[in-house]
Amino acid sequence: MFEIAPSILSADFARLAEEIRAVEEGGAALLHVDVMDGHFVPNITIGLPVVRSLRKATSLPLDTHLMIAEPGRYAVQFVEAGADMVSVHVEADDHLQRTLTAIREAGAKAGVAINPATPLVMLEEALTYADFVLLMSVNPGFGGQKFVPTSMDKLRRLRRMIDDRGLKTRIEIDGGVDAENVAKVVEAGAEILVAGSAIYGKNDPAAAVRELIDKATVWV
Ligand code: DX5
Ligand code: ZN
Repeated sequence: MFEIAPSILSADFARLAEEIRAVEEGGAALLHVDVMDGHFVPNITIGLPVVRSLRKATSLPLDTHLMIAEPGRYAVQFVEAGADMVSVHVEADDHLQRTLTAIREAGAKAGVAINPATPLVMLEEALTYADFVLLMSVNPGFGGQKFVPTSMDKLRRLRRMIDDRGLKTRIEIDGGVDAENVAKVVEAGAEILVAGSAIYGKNDPAAAVRELIDKATVWV
């Protein structure tokens, strides 16, 4: 089973409600919300007030990806703002166990995100406290980047690591996913597929979601 999570980073922020309606219509399962602070990543996007507004505008689960320094200071506030899933970067948090547990206790799914060059061994302990791993297949900060090729093998190794431990941790892949490679990432073990420019970079986002679902279904 896989789910498509459109990233609104590539949407038109002035027409967000409309843009969300389109991906709902196309069959999106989640809405991926990229929060950037201009510190952990070299870009600034959106924060808590937007998540609060999104909560009122859609019934899709909100998957908030925190690309911020010291995410432990804000993670629970994102749950309170309406996020159903909150992921924090292993590179940004010295107290991952505390943050992930706090997210769960606040009632959301807790995710640990990992950059392309950070080794999987960094997840070994954290896996126990996480409901999902967000595997970055680009360096975070911007939409529209190319899938880092080594991510495919890393994804397979992560799948094995989770399966070998008998865990139920889900894998989300984020960055450069498109109609060309979506079948391969599902085959390699990803279950939640984030796509920004491959959806909102197209004239018809609803059709783009349907195409991704179509292309990915081959492997199910
Ligand atoms: C990148 C973000 C991604 C981004 C993906 O820092 O975390 O979620 O929106 O965009 P595409 O699918 O265009 O690579
Ligand atoms: Zn993201």
